[in-house]
Amino acid sequence: MHTKADKSRRSFLKILPLGVFAGVIASLGGAAFRFLRPRLFAATDAWLDVASVSELTGPQPLTRKIVAEHIAGWAITTEEHNIFVLPAKNHQVLSTICPHEGCEVVWEQGRDRFSCPCHESYFAADGTRISGPSPRGLDPLPMRVQDGKLQVQYVSKEQETRA
Ligand code: FES
Repeated sequence: MHTKADKSRRSFLKILPLGVFAGVIASLGGAAFRFLRPRLFAATDAWLDVASVSELTGPQPLTRKIVAEHIAGWAITTEEHNIFVLPAKNHQVLSTICPHEGCEVVWEQGRDRFSCPCHESYFAADGTRISGPSPRGLDPLPMRVQDGKLQVQYVSKEQETRA
């Protein structure tokens, strides 16, 4: 004759392998997801070399190119971007992307200002907005000096709003 305790122990022993199996599947599934999931955002925390600080001198903003990695889903691409370096302002770095609708801003040396060719927004030499439809000045980019080199993190406002 089976007691009530024997029955419940047998029931437990019947479901025990299922529980172990479910635990193993959950662990494997979690590991596979972490490995295979698409990365949605660019690796914006990478520090990118711009140039030696000793090469970045003078009163005028300088245009430099950097190559940043962009990640969209499983696709990783590299893209070249222009940035502005302000040697006279402790090597502050500004984005060249107009905050209005994303056109590329240029430096007008003779007029001492940045201008956007799309809808005529103008910015002072430190990036502050002068006039036009742009809602703000040019966006500063995170920068640092490491071993005599100016480095920058390339972050677009598009990435910031998605993150
Ligand atoms: S995109 Fe620059 S003013 Fe419109």
